[in-house]
Amino acid sequence: MITLGPLLPADRAAWEELFVGYNAFYGRELPPLLLDRAWREFQRDVRMHALGARHDGRLVGIAHFLVHASTTAPDVCYLQDLFTAPDARGLGVGRALIGGVVEWARERECSRVYWHTQESNDTARRLYDQVAENRGFISYVVPL
Ligand SMILES: CC(C)(COP(=O)(O)OP(=O)(O)OC[C@H]1O[C@@H](n2cnc3c(N)ncnc32)[C@H](O)[C@@H]1OP(=O)(O)O)[C@@H](O)C(=O)NCCC(=O)NCCS
Repeated sequence: MITLGPLLPADRAAWEELFVGYNAFYGRELPPLLLDRAWREFQRDVRMHALGARHDGRLVGIAHFLVHASTTAPDVCYLQDLFTAPDARGLGVGRALIGGVVEWARERECSRVYWHTQESNDTARRLYDQVAENRGFISYVVPL
């Protein structure tokens, strides 16, 4: 059974393994300082938020998200990171996490939840096409 809930202090090691895996998926290695910072922010739960998914009690998925203002609507919720442990994929964990973030944002009267993915991420897009609209935007980045 999949259950959703906050990340607890005892989840630190399991969370880190998942977040490291997520970053590795994008070819990045986060320095320990940034891992510590993210964990601190999730525990404060003010600027950055996290949800964990457990399967039979084991933390197997994470979603990281934040809220920001919008010029045209009430605040919006940006889902920045979503990751499921490789051995727990296809069980509905990713779908459950997206549903949990949507519920969280609805309770706080956000006007929408949105996220980005790479065009080539077919696995993720199979899920996203079932739960959200692709409105055709593409993103540009200026790294600073
Ligand atoms: C994308 C990701 C989060 C999906 O997580 P998941 O827990 O496997 O997703 P779910 O089990 O909820 O899958 C839901 C749907 O996605 C599709 N899907 C997911 N994994 C699949 C796979 N390995 N093969 C085929 N379809 C798959 C299916 O259509 C499934 O729908 P169904 O339940 O109706 O069959 C996970 O694959 C992952 O962490 N990938 C690496 C990191 C990543 O890409 N993150 C997202 C970046 S934007």
